[in-house]
Amino acid sequence: MAEIVCIIGNKGGTGKTTLAHMLCQGMGLLGQRSVCVLTDTHREPLDPDGRRYLVADARTREALGKVVDKIRTLQGWLGVIDGGGNRSEMDRKLYSLASVVLLPFRDSHEDIRTVIRDLETFPRAWAIPSQWPANPWQQEAAEKTIHEQLGPYADRILQPVNALSASKLLLQRNIPAKLPTPLGNACRALACQVLDMLEIACQAPEEEIEDEPDGDGMNEAAAPSAAEAFDPAPTRH
Ligand SMILES: Nc1ncnc2c1ncn2[C@@H]1O[C@H](COP(=O)(O)OP(=O)(O)OP(=O)(O)O)[C@@H](O)[C@H]1O
Ligand SMILES: [Mg+2]
Repeated sequence: MAEIVCIIGNKGGTGKTTLAHMLCQGMGLLGQRSVCVLTDTHREPLDPDGRRYLVADARTREALGKVVDKIRTLQGWLGVIDGGGNRSEMDRKLYSLASVVLLPFRDSHEDIRTVIRDLETFPRAWAIPSQWPANPWQQEAAEKTIHEQLGPYADRILQPVNALSASKLLLQRNIPAKLPTPLGNACRALACQVLDMLEIACQAPEEEIEDEPDGDGMNEAAAPSAAEAFDPAPTRH
């Protein structure tokens, strides 16, 4: 049976959609098949061409049921469900469906207050620092804030995903033919973290060095053979 990961949380703009796509892209780069599931009624589906994962439109309750049922039949696949901010009822539903639940939060007191409430509401969920500062001074200050405010939840905080301007490329309707190497590395590191949580073997991803030719002759955005809009109809496996 497929595993389902959901990325939720009450606060808007924390990076749920970006992390959902980064996670799927990382899975693709590690050779795992995944589907990124859109549930946010305020967003439009993205074009699957050139991605290393499929995309599914589950913006209605009925479509969500169908997509989840379909994913569950796909042995070895990963379904990554992107929530939407400020939707407590939907968050509860997605929490009940998923085996891994991620709650992104940024380096701000407001995000941290909200993630504490979400960690209390969703006892199996993990907090994941998102858009995290890469600069050492800012990072030190951010770590201090986490230590002071999230101390009691320290064992439920994952490795941060750094602020990376290239991450927005994955949210373009059509992604560029070649994605920057640092983005691929960040996607792989995130995917490896999640695979570890699912107890699926994953070798620590080797960081690619920028400007080196790709070993397999494929660029980062090369599509899997099955890149197409995800069809939840039960006929195709
Ligand atoms: N790791 C990152 N580095 C840089 N910018 C980021 C990163 N993650 C997200 N962003 C930016 O932050 C903004 C919000 O991100 P995103 O849309 O992923 O959040 P969200 O939680 O899905 O929002 P919503 O609650 O509206 O669904 C976007 O402009 C996105 O490009
Ligand atoms: Mg979103």
